[in-house]
Amino acid sequence: MNLKASIVRGLNRHVLPRYRLILKKSANDADALPAPGPMRERLVGNAATALQPWLDAIGGNADAKALIEEFITVFARRPVRDNAGGSGFNGSLCLFAAVRVLSPALIVESGTWKGHSAWLFRQAAPEARIVSFDIEHENLEHREAGIDYRLGDWMDHEVVAGEGVSLAFFDDHISHARRIREAHARGFRLLLADDDLPAEALFVTGLPPAPTAAMLADPAVTAGQILAWRYRGRDFSLTVSPEDVAVRALIAGRHAAPDLSPATYHPRHNGVTVLRLKSRGE
Ligand SMILES: C[S@@+](CC[C@H](N)C(=O)[O-])C[C@H]1O[C@@H](n2cnc3c(N)ncnc32)[C@H](O)[C@@H]1O
Repeated sequence: MNLKASIVRGLNRHVLPRYRLILKKSANDADALPAPGPMRERLVGNAATALQPWLDAIGGNADAKALIEEFITVFARRPVRDNAGGSGFNGSLCLFAAVRVLSPALIVESGTWKGHSAWLFRQAAPEARIVSFDIEHENLEHREAGIDYRLGDWMDHEVVAGEGVSLAFFDDHISHARRIREAHARGFRLLLADDDLPAEALFVTGLPPAPTAAMLADPAVTAGQILAWRYRGRDFSLTVSPEDVAVRALIAGRHAAPDLSPATYHPRHNGVTVLRLKSRGE
């Protein structure tokens, strides 16, 4: 074993466990795919079969197979090569396809992270105005020309839905119930949400955006209910409030993206969902 490997092993065995930390190689296998040819075709065909019903449900006449083929080319030239902590292959594919189908004139993102998803939105919607919020820019690796990167919570800035299709994307681990309420008040009727986990899966990320849209759609989730989960040795809990439950009345439709991992063999996304909100009077 070389010196570097024995130092890492020593830290992982004797020092870092005290702080619940571990050193790992960053996993950057997002480019892994069969070489172009019949097996790539088979993988793309299987992914298209899984994706097409979702694209049909969110609108338009998109051809999932053509979109996936385009996505593979786009994704291969992404500037953020390792997006650990953000969208991977399957999540990025769903975001790219959703934006292509919804064709927004304005995209507001909350949760810039390294800048990958904002860049991806630009590839899917070259003409859209894109505003991306984060409460810190220490991790921002790629700034795409023409994207408006803002520091702070979106509620600290004046941003409202525009005349054309306006899409708000929430990937900031803040409660979907809160974000839906805020977006609706700002005139947004079309949302994309990440980490839309059901109540029994809140342990999947450290800080789930709970109550999630999936929980709001679940009749078993009620006001006053306490949900508890354990993540990496820490206990978390959440009490569902009547204000959270009231947000149900704002949702006209919820379309959860399919799990593409059985087709692509890339890790599953944590829940990409398109939400349609009610207009006033609906
Ligand atoms: C999971 S990452 C976003 C990943 C990114 N959208 C992607 O797919 O590449 C979550 C980000 O949300 C940010 N965040 C946390 N609280 C926020 C807030 N109140 N407003 C905006 N961003 C916030 C974090 O700083 C972090 O950069």
